[in-house]
Amino acid sequence: MIKTLEWTDEGVVMIDQRLLPAEEVYPVFKTYEEVAYAIKEMVVRGAPAIGVAAAMGVALGARNIPTNDAAQFDQQFQRVCDVLAGTRPTAVNLFWAIERMKTLYSNLKQDGLSLPEICNRLIEEAKQMHDEDVAINREMGANGAELIPDGATVLTHCNAGALATAGYGTALGVIRAAVEAGKKVAVFADETRPFLQGARLTAWELHKDQIPVTIITDNMAGHFMKAGKIDCIVVGADRIAANGDVANKIGTYSVAVLAKENNIPFYVAAPISTIDLQTKSGEDIPIEERPTTEVTHVKGAQLTPEGITIANPAFDVTPNRYVTAIITERGVARAPYKETLKSLVQG
Ligand code: MRU
Repeated sequence: MIKTLEWTDEGVVMIDQRLLPAEEVYPVFKTYEEVAYAIKEMVVRGAPAIGVAAAMGVALGARNIPTNDAAQFDQQFQRVCDVLAGTRPTAVNLFWAIERMKTLYSNLKQDGLSLPEICNRLIEEAKQMHDEDVAINREMGANGAELIPDGATVLTHCNAGALATAGYGTALGVIRAAVEAGKKVAVFADETRPFLQGARLTAWELHKDQIPVTIITDNMAGHFMKAGKIDCIVVGADRIAANGDVANKIGTYSVAVLAKENNIPFYVAAPISTIDLQTKSGEDIPIEERPTTEVTHVKGAQLTPEGITIANPAFDVTPNRYVTAIITERGVARAPYKETLKSLVQG
């Protein structure tokens, strides 16, 4: 099994996803600042993985606060949470995870636990969030596998696999579950410019699991859909608004529109923690703008002329009308999403 991230007494161990597939390196991040750096620089990426990393960062930060004074601890704990929350704006799992850690902290404080006891419980909580995420992905996989026909070729965009989660994956979890159920499934992976999560990470994972994968450049997806080579599409999500609009990796919107044009089902697989009922529609989802060097350079080599204006939004929003169904660990939601998502979340 692929190990994305893990709590150890020394700190948080994470596979450095920037180096894959060429190098498999597992550095240890020993302070919350280092964990925040790892999230911002995309050592670890993917909405659920970012959430678990942040929870571990909060636990690490709390453990390292050098004071026994409750008021000072409080102040520094808040700072740890703020720094981690300031790393990436779009994936709601980051904020969900930090909120969960903050709520636990204030409950334990109210219960009168000592600071060392509180720190131990925060560590346990972060470890539990890791294990829960894997279990959730397996449940989501089982729910979604039923939608994948035997013999299907599935197109996916970005990486919503084991590497984007604590393990197993969301979109790739659905594909893995279909394969485990005995179905023959092949995958087309969009390369996903500019960070190449599809070409580097999705292909690496699926190849390891011996699931047949064909890498295509992003601009080839429409061609293969029109040629009848794609039976369905499964992607992950970074935030799903209350009305079912889906923020996911830049390029997802184009895939969804092309899917509708070609009568191909477009599925989104995401845990309940990715559904943000506080955000009414996709228009309210903040879209992260990443450094322009991700577009201008590949492995340090400059592709573009000097002095050119560059845009690099990391995500786009797919309006709910393009989404055939949203697969979660609690079941599969279909339109009207305002009602179906609310009842899934309130469960
Ligand atoms: O910028 P990234 O690599 O963090 O973006 C990841 C995605 O867009 C994924 O599709 C999404 O987080 C779902 S991961 C299960």
